[in-house]
Amino acid sequence: MPAAVIIGAQWGDEGKGKATDLLAGRIDYVVKFNGGNNAGHTVVIGDEKYALHLLPSGILTDGVTPVIANGVVIDIEVLFGELEALSARGVDVSKLLISANAHVITHYHRTLDKVTERFLGKRQIGTTGRGIGPTYADKINRVGIRIQDLFDENILRQKVEAALDQKNHLLVKVFNRRAISVDEIVDDLLSYAERLRPMVADTALVLHEALERGETVLFEGGQATMLDVDHGTYPFVTSSNATAGGAATGSGIGPNRIDRVIGIVKAYTTRVGAGPFPTELFDESGEFLRKTGFEFGTTTGRPRRCGWYDAPIARYTARINGVTDFVMTKLDVLTGLERIPVCVAYDVDGQRFDELPVSQSDFHHATPIYEEFPGWSEDISGARSFEDLPKNAQDYVLAIEAMSGARISAIGVGPGRDAIVVRHDLLD
Ligand code: GDP
Ligand code: IMO
Ligand code: MG
Repeated sequence: MPAAVIIGAQWGDEGKGKATDLLAGRIDYVVKFNGGNNAGHTVVIGDEKYALHLLPSGILTDGVTPVIANGVVIDIEVLFGELEALSARGVDVSKLLISANAHVITHYHRTLDKVTERFLGKRQIGTTGRGIGPTYADKINRVGIRIQDLFDENILRQKVEAALDQKNHLLVKVFNRRAISVDEIVDDLLSYAERLRPMVADTALVLHEALERGETVLFEGGQATMLDVDHGTYPFVTSSNATAGGAATGSGIGPNRIDRVIGIVKAYTTRVGAGPFPTELFDESGEFLRKTGFEFGTTTGRPRRCGWYDAPIARYTARINGVTDFVMTKLDVLTGLERIPVCVAYDVDGQRFDELPVSQSDFHHATPIYEEFPGWSEDISGARSFEDLPKNAQDYVLAIEAMSGARISAIGVGPGRDAIVVRHDLLD
């Protein structure tokens, strides 16, 4: 079992951290390949709760080598903050490897993220404000700063000068903000260089060699399919490829190395930030899901928008990523509902769509066509095998499995590490 990818199947916060933690005892490397500290992955171990942002969740498991690969954007201050906080809690962070090719989030990226959002007004995306979009934009515009630039002051200064030349015009003349000085940025970045140096590696080569030795590599995706810059609800997306293909480009391994793609899907749907969300609930059912599921952002604390399960989205995710297995999380949150609606198709102006409409305008006013399933009232948090679940909960899972495009191999019944029902081995 050489390489597996974990991806978000909806709009994020499906429980990717928990799924990674579940597998971490059986892997050698855990790789973050996209995004940055916009992610918030929660792992609950006993009474301890960890929220990982820039670091992959597998770092919590002894013996696993964590890797931040080339596809990630790194806020170095956040990186050291997170490393120190984990060290203080007794986590061994000494094995972390960082790609020399990863891009760096600077002060001007964070500033631009925030002022751009303010400028968009009603049309804003609701970003996490961490500088993610502007940093990826610089990467594509070929004016980004990479980790390796921190080890060549001359190059670093030239690149920061080039980047700020345009940006300062924008900041001052368009956004009415103060100009940012080249020295300020260069000095700040250089101050981290020596601390970073021992962690920096040719991570693509490291992963290649690990795979050649027959070791197991798990790619932990950030964000989710519907937030992917190519396949999500553009422009209401993040700026990276959060889908399985991103694991190859974002780390430098060949796509044929990946033989398991594990989609993490909630038993209902949530979304943070703006953009279309057909099954969104504005009534007491939505409030029930938010309260019972504790649906507040791990990164920004924002209340998450909540809605019913959307099967066309699951099918889309299964197809775009080549999902081999789904992990369905938070089934326990649905306990106590009399009936549970599931979106099986959309209605757009009287026309039925069984798959996602190709036009974003159509998707914006798609209304769900629901099929309802009977609920259950038994506490399922202690279930550890499929047979432990009440019949109606089993039927709900089986019905969803039949419409979602891949088997549901594990079912989350609580936030804790052990609160899971495994039906099929995810790595075998
Ligand atoms: P991620 O970004 O995909 O890693 O997900 P988040 O950590 O942002 O959000 C998922 C939340 O659901 C976290 O608070 C988890 O502790 C919690 N969680 C994960 N799986 C389950 C589950 O099966 N049941 C319940 N009740 N909570 C879960
Ligand atoms: P995890 O990995 C949920 C959302 C933001 C916003 C959009 C763009 O925890 O699932 P960005 O700051 O990336 O430019 O914001 O994407 N977003 C997430 N929503 N979970 C995440 O990560 C997210 N990362 C970004 O709310 O709508
Ligand atoms: Mg999250």
